[in-house]
Amino acid sequence: MKTGVAYAGNMESIVLFGPPGAGKGTQAQRIMDSTGLPQVSTGDMLRAAVSAGTSTGIEAKKFMDAGKLVPDEVIIDLIKDRIKEDDAVNGVMFDGFPRTIPQAEALENITTVSHVIAIEVPDGKIVERICGRFTCAKCGAVYHDSFKPTSLDGKCDFCDSEDFKRRADDNADTVMSRLKAYHTQTSPLAEWYDSKGIFFVIDGDREIDKITDDILSALK
Ligand code: AP5
Ligand code: MG
Repeated sequence: MKTGVAYAGNMESIVLFGPPGAGKGTQAQRIMDSTGLPQVSTGDMLRAAVSAGTSTGIEAKKFMDAGKLVPDEVIIDLIKDRIKEDDAVNGVMFDGFPRTIPQAEALENITTVSHVIAIEVPDGKIVERICGRFTCAKCGAVYHDSFKPTSLDGKCDFCDSEDFKRRADDNADTVMSRLKAYHTQTSPLAEWYDSKGIFFVIDGDREIDKITDDILSALK
């Protein structure tokens, strides 16, 4: 049983679902405290593996640079390991996983999912979002050149770091491949989860705060 968590009711692990640039990472960071669930981003885990030069990172990099999905076996192994960690005992908040039907099927044998939150943003808005994104190199806070700049010029709002980074796959060409992968391989999961009665659609083309409120309402 979860204690000290505002949303302990009938919530287990949750999935943040949506196209590249929908705001999954942005929203995950905002609802972690309310839900008490740690963010598990397969994208972040893969980027850490690439930086560390592990065999998983070397294998994944060629797919990520091309905007293609990393093979299911690699992703499922990462999740199986992550879910064994102490902070995952009461469930987790998946960000960017599952992305294929085989990944969703594997997840059924790993943990129970109570809510799949789909953040919907039209394709026409995605390139602008992705190409303006930058993150704090120290704490990972997500910003945007126009839509979510830092409050003070050049300083992270959360940790005061002045070190920021941009992702290698955040360019217009790769975004088109990522969107294609989303529409062909990931979007069929919407129907799959909808048929289980745990799929909640949120309009992601609005102010960040309003989206957060709607996600928290859906989780109640
Ligand atoms: P991953 O890192 O998961 O990337 P993604 O799914 O393409 O999603 P993003 O992280 O780009 O977007 P986001 O939804 O988190 O948006 P954010 O909050 O940052 O995956 C990268 C790669 O790894 C994949 O291409 C694949 O190769 C591989 N991979 C990962 N998981 C995999 C899996 N399960 N299976 C196979 N391969 C996998 O927001 C974006 C920008 O918009 C920010 O600048 C933000 O400030 C801004 N913003 C956010 N909300 C709003 C708003 N409401 N209004 C205006 N701007 C906003
Ligand atoms: Mg993300």
